[in-house]
Amino acid sequence: MTDAAQGKMWGGRFERAPEAGFYEFQRSFSFDKRLLPYELAVDRAWARALAAAKVLTADDLAKLIAAIDQIEQQAKADPQWLAASPAEDVHHFVELQLIERLGALGAKLHTGRSRNELVATDFRMFVKDAAREMRGAVAALVGALLGRAERHLGVPMPGNTHLQHAQPILWSHYLHSHAEAFLCDAARLDTAMQSTNECPMGAGALAGTAFPIDRAVIARELGFSGLTLNSLNATSHRDFALDYLYALSVLASHLSRLAADMTLFATPEFGFIVLPDEYSTGSSLMPQKKNPDCWELIRGKAGRIAGALFALLSALKGLPTGYQRDLQEDKGGLFDAHDQALGMTRIAAGAIAATEIREERLREAASDPALLATEVADYLVARGVPFRQAHEIVGAIVREAENRGQSWLTFPLAKLKTFSPAFEEDLHVWLTVESALARRSVPGGTAPETVRAALKNCRERLRKLEEAL
Ligand code: ARG
Repeated sequence: MTDAAQGKMWGGRFERAPEAGFYEFQRSFSFDKRLLPYELAVDRAWARALAAAKVLTADDLAKLIAAIDQIEQQAKADPQWLAASPAEDVHHFVELQLIERLGALGAKLHTGRSRNELVATDFRMFVKDAAREMRGAVAALVGALLGRAERHLGVPMPGNTHLQHAQPILWSHYLHSHAEAFLCDAARLDTAMQSTNECPMGAGALAGTAFPIDRAVIARELGFSGLTLNSLNATSHRDFALDYLYALSVLASHLSRLAADMTLFATPEFGFIVLPDEYSTGSSLMPQKKNPDCWELIRGKAGRIAGALFALLSALKGLPTGYQRDLQEDKGGLFDAHDQALGMTRIAAGAIAATEIREERLREAASDPALLATEVADYLVARGVPFRQAHEIVGAIVREAENRGQSWLTFPLAKLKTFSPAFEEDLHVWLTVESALARRSVPGGTAPETVRAALKNCRERLRKLEEAL
């Protein structure tokens, strides 16, 4: 098997075939077969370049292109076909197929090129398409968040820090915060796409091809905007894969935080949302259970995406210059991270769109007087009390209310005046959730009009992102 699998790719200088276990160990076809469409596109461009360089005749070229087309069609029609091949990797697979179909001519396509530049090129093309697909999914998620934010505009909720009641905010402000984070992810994905934009073909194994190949024509045909500028660097770095994995890791971390909120908000203690049946599962034991598994899995999967980034960083660290076989470890983790992140993003968008928002419960939770403590301090500041002193005064009021087991909102003015003479009748106008929200009209703040404008602005940026997809 191994001799046949080897074909004529590199067997010439060997007396003995590879040990069967080792052959399997070093194969990458089981996962790099995913690069076949890109490999075939590069093969077409290379065949044309060889014909332009007079290495192939016009007739050779026509036959090669026809055979490449056949391989593409057969792979589409019968995915099992690939699984049955003993090829070492996707490059070997195509070479075996071309030789089977065209004999000596099939063996000519590899003239002046190396698998080192092929894999660097195929993988860049994959990452570029993957990042575009991911941006589409992120755009849909931003759309789902904005849809819910626009629908429930005006509904207050308790804003937390340290998971403790802090100040009232709008539910729409909360959802918009996640939309902004995901728009940043879309920008990071775009940056990752830009870092794939130089075509390595012509770099050879490490030193550059010795044949008169027009690199610029190949790059254009394959959709790259430029050429790699050093053949050694082109074949031995994987910066574009790191950039993509980093973008995915940040996206996954954002998703995990949204997931953490949703699992909390669905508890009876919070009760802010009702989980959609379509995105929840039950317990085999406890009949009452409806579990937020979609969010738990999203949160859990974020770990393996960051893991893929770290695995590749670790594999790259300390590598000597030039292609090393360690680089084959670049693909498995990235393919998995892409698949998982795409699933996570799509499921999150669907779950957000289907989640029921309990407005009354949000309003009730936002009516906790503790959320207005800062307003009282600000009220005193407006009457000339230094902020640090105002903070101290309000702290004492809150403590007193706690000791008495009542809300300080019920304290009569005369009692409040014992804490500070600056308190007046107009305090109760100041002390509502509505006025606390309305006062935060600074750009990026939670005042209803500001949030309305922010959502509009966010929609506009989403529209531009969708146009650019
Ligand atoms: N399967 C290899 C990889 O993914 C292709 C390049 C192999 N090059 C080599 N010189 N053995 O990296």
